[in-house]
Amino acid sequence: MLDELKQMRQEAIDKLEVLSEAADLDAWRLAFLGRKGRLTAALRSIGALPKEERPLAGQLANEIRVALEAAFEQRATELRSRALAESLQRDALDVHLPGRPQNLGALHVSTQTLREIYDIFRYLGFEILRSGEVEDDMTNFQLLNFPPHHPARDMQDTFFTTTPDVLLRTHTSPGQIHAMRKHHPEPFRALLPGKCYRYEQVTMRSEYMFHQVEGIAVGHNITMGDLKGVVTEFARMMFGADRKMRFRPSYFPFTEPSAEADMDCILCNGEGCALCKYTGWLEIMGCGMVHPNVLRNGGYDPTEFSGFAFGMGPERIAMLKHGITDIRHFFSGDVRFLQQFA
Ligand code: PHE
Repeated sequence: MLDELKQMRQEAIDKLEVLSEAADLDAWRLAFLGRKGRLTAALRSIGALPKEERPLAGQLANEIRVALEAAFEQRATELRSRALAESLQRDALDVHLPGRPQNLGALHVSTQTLREIYDIFRYLGFEILRSGEVEDDMTNFQLLNFPPHHPARDMQDTFFTTTPDVLLRTHTSPGQIHAMRKHHPEPFRALLPGKCYRYEQVTMRSEYMFHQVEGIAVGHNITMGDLKGVVTEFARMMFGADRKMRFRPSYFPFTEPSAEADMDCILCNGEGCALCKYTGWLEIMGCGMVHPNVLRNGGYDPTEFSGFAFGMGPERIAMLKHGITDIRHFFSGDVRFLQQFA
């Protein structure tokens, strides 16, 4: 009897070892531990043994039951975790997405040029002031000495709004009035950058929206010499220390006298080439001495104060500096153009 029990235990353990499916476990359990299983049958048959053999056989059978139950639990756990690992592997889902490339932004070439200009004029003692892109006729024109119907208005074809006398500024010069009214009666130097708008045919050379940088200095003894010195210093810091300047008489209603400032051509050094149209000179800005009427409109007495002003187009400056031949590239939004300056 004892040998039979031990043999059965060995057989049960061996079979348990080779079970590979969780489903086979139940069959094993029924076969050995179930109500009609072999261990149960063995326990029952103990009653038929001679009395003195019963305790030992009973004890062994109980040990076997405890051992088989423990072995069963252990094997069941093994099979369950193996099945889980297999199903995790089989149903695995790769949740990684390829990364989305990040495009790095960069400053627009106009912004870069504006900042270079700011740095130069900051060094020359100018503060930076801004005023609105929407102006009234009074400040954009009349206070700058363009009366209504003045023919000089033709130089600046204007976008009007539906509100009478409200327009998009055609130049940054109305900033002169704002700057003077802010500072009078003190002397000051200010740089007035911003966007301007003109109702113009768009060509390689002109856009309907562009930047200007205006400069104004008002004080007690300001002369044309100061203007020439500041403009020349700017050209040399922007384009190179050897630049030569020329000031040609011109006309603006708000300056008297007025001038165009030309710089010797940066491509041919004044020899004459396609860039300077064989003149040897490049026009870089309009300028002049602030007209007495304009000083008065800003709150300064023209018998005590004088001033100079200038206005340039930073897109034009950038075109010269980088050899850009068409102003329309600036605001067309073509990344291939913009990336060249990143
Ligand atoms: N406002 C003028 C223009 O837009 C430029 C300018 C500014 C000229 C200041 C003289 C003085 O053409």
